[in-house]
Amino acid sequence: MSDAPRATVADQVLALRAAPTRGAIVDLVPYAPVHHDRVIAMRNTSRATYFLHQPAPLTHEGQSRWFEGYSARRDDVQWAICRKDGTVVGATALYNITADRARAEKGRLVVDDAYAREAPYTLEAELLLLDHAFGTFGLAQVDTCVRHDNGVMQSINARLGFVEVGAHDIRGVPYLDYALTPDRYRPDALRATVAAWARRTERLALLAR
Ligand SMILES: CC(C)(COP(=O)(O)OP(=O)(O)OC[C@H]1O[C@@H](n2cnc3c(N)ncnc32)[C@H](O)[C@@H]1OP(=O)(O)O)[C@@H](O)C(=O)NCCC(=O)NCCS
Repeated sequence: MSDAPRATVADQVLALRAAPTRGAIVDLVPYAPVHHDRVIAMRNTSRATYFLHQPAPLTHEGQSRWFEGYSARRDDVQWAICRKDGTVVGATALYNITADRARAEKGRLVVDDAYAREAPYTLEAELLLLDHAFGTFGLAQVDTCVRHDNGVMQSINARLGFVEVGAHDIRGVPYLDYALTPDRYRPDALRATVAAWARRTERLALLAR
């Protein structure tokens, strides 16, 4: 057995912020100021504003302030979800990662509707994030909360194995609480779906030559 000290959560957060996580159809690219305008635009759509219950439109100044706070934290990883050609199609985060690895939250997820129908980008982004949660960090549980009428997100969470564990109120709107533990995370069939899409995309690219 190695005597090398195990990396802390903070060390691992910094490592994830330093390099992209490569998937088959998307990459999770560490969030940086270059992503502000694209993410602000996606977050300010009426759909995202409604489901994320944003009290006011995001601004460049506000996003810059948020990024300063984010950069100082060591329990939060925010990514831009990028298509393989580099196009930013969404954003997602694993945050409030506790130092004892007991839990973290997944959220701040948005995928641009203009790209979402092309391929299961959301699904692969969720799998890459949960692979970090349970693989990289070895967390005991991932929590997430979803607006009561967000059927799309509830369906995605159910496919990933999340179970409803409660509800709470955010500024007058009911939100449902979900939790996922490693024993319920069964990603193999979902990964196979993503891999099939990647092969299909490769075949289409070959045919187009
Ligand atoms: C949530 C979001 C990222 C999902 O992106 P998407 O790529 O369109 O979603 P997907 O195509 O991967 O998944 C859609 C799923 O919802 C299901 N669905 C679609 N409409 C539905 C509805 N009205 N009710 C229930 N399920 C529905 C689909 O059948 C599919 O589930 P399945 O794969 O199990 O069949 C995107 O809608 C978004 O950015 N929304 C605004 C922000 C938001 O809600 N973020 C989450 C906050 S917790």
